[in-house]
Formats: sequence, structure tokens, C-alpha cells
Amino acid sequence: MATKRNFLKEFFKDRKMVGAVSPSTRFLGEKMLENIDFDKAKGLVELGPGTGVFTDIIIARMRDDAKLLVFELNDEFHAALKARINDPRVQIIHDSAENIAKYLPEEEQTAQDAVISSLPLMVFPSDLRQSVVDAAYACIKPKGKYVQFQYSLQSKKFLESIFSSVKITFTIRNFPPAFVYTCLKK
Ligand SMILES: C[S@@+](CC[C@H](N)C(=O)[O-])C[C@H]1O[C@@H](n2cnc3c(N)ncnc32)[C@H](O)[C@@H]1O
Repeated sequence: MATKRNFLKEFFKDRKMVGAVSPSTRFLGEKMLENIDFDKAKGLVELGPGTGVFTDIIIARMRDDAKLLVFELNDEFHAALKARINDPRVQIIHDSAENIAKYLPEEEQTAQDAVISSLPLMVFPSDLRQSVVDAAYACIKPKGKYVQFQYSLQSKKFLESIFSSVKITFTIRNFPPAFVYTCLKK
């Protein structure tokens, strides 16, 4: 309950950054992650974890030798995640999602298996939206995935202009109900 209250408080502080009134459900998290092959993935990036609903599922599934970079711009969410998550495989970064490359060693800059994003893309200014998704695209290896949830189908054309294929599923088991975009890099 405290988590939900904090989330709402952060939403009222900065609606455009937080983009939702409450944390996502675990069910949406399962749906976001169902097409990622955690038995193989060694490089994972999460954008906009908030209170960490998806982060916890990723950590539970990732290999012992995998790495997860988590980008959270909001001060409170970042501090709470840093305090709560203590796993040598995970780096929690207080920076904007478009700066992914800065935190990856050169040989890993185009080798990530998947980027999992909860960013409120369609409320971002268009130049930020473009630079964030360009940065995500650049760090993903060929045949890697970009998974994004949104509350509308507005992102379809935009994501199709970048990725070679975009599959969309929908779930009502979230508030608000959400579309999951699973995008493939050629
Ligand atoms: C819709 S919330 C999703 C939170 C969480 N993943 C969930 O589903 O409950 C979006 C999150 O993206 C974060 N965010 C917004 N802009 C960001 C940026 N440029 N870089 C990193 N995180 C950002 C917000 O602070 C917020 O935590």
C-alpha cells in the first residue's frame, strides 16, 4: 500500500516523467517477459523500473552470469531501488535512458539480449522519444528484443519505423489495461 501511495505522490510531482498512477501488476510483468529467453540472455537493460515490479521478476529469472542495467531518472524511485536491491549482477543507474551506451563497456555496447522498457514514450517530447529508442536499438544485438508496454496503440507506427517486426498483445489484468509491444531487431 505504501508503495502505491508513493507511486501516486511521484506521479503528482512529475506526471510526464512517471506516466502512470500506480505500479504495474505482476501479471503485466509476466507478459512483458514471456518472450525473453532467460536461459540464454547475458545482457539485459531495464528502462523506467519505478518501484521495481518487473525488476524483481527479471532478477529471479536471470542467469548467474548475466548482467542487468537499470535506468531510473526519478530520485525517490532510484534511491528506494538502490536501498532494496543488493545483487552483484544488477547496476541501478540514476540517469536518463538515452545514455545507455555510457554504462556499457565497448564490447557490450551492441550485444544486449533485451531491453525492457516501461517509459511513458508517448508523453515524452518527440526528440527524447527518438533518442531513447535509438539508444535502446543501438545496444541490442541482432535478433535481440525491445519490449515496451503502453496504454494505447499510439506507439505502433513509431516502433515499426525502427524495428524489423513489432508484435502487440493486450492485457486487462493491469490498471490501466496495457498493450505489450515486443519488437525484434534484424
Ligand atoms: C509508467 S512508470 C513504470 C514504472 C514500473 N516499471 C511499473 O511498470 O510499475 C515509468 C517510469 O519511467 C521512469 N522514467 C521516466 N523518464 C525516464 C528516463 N528518461 N530515463 C529513465 N527513467 C525514466 C519514471 O520515473 C517511472 O519510474
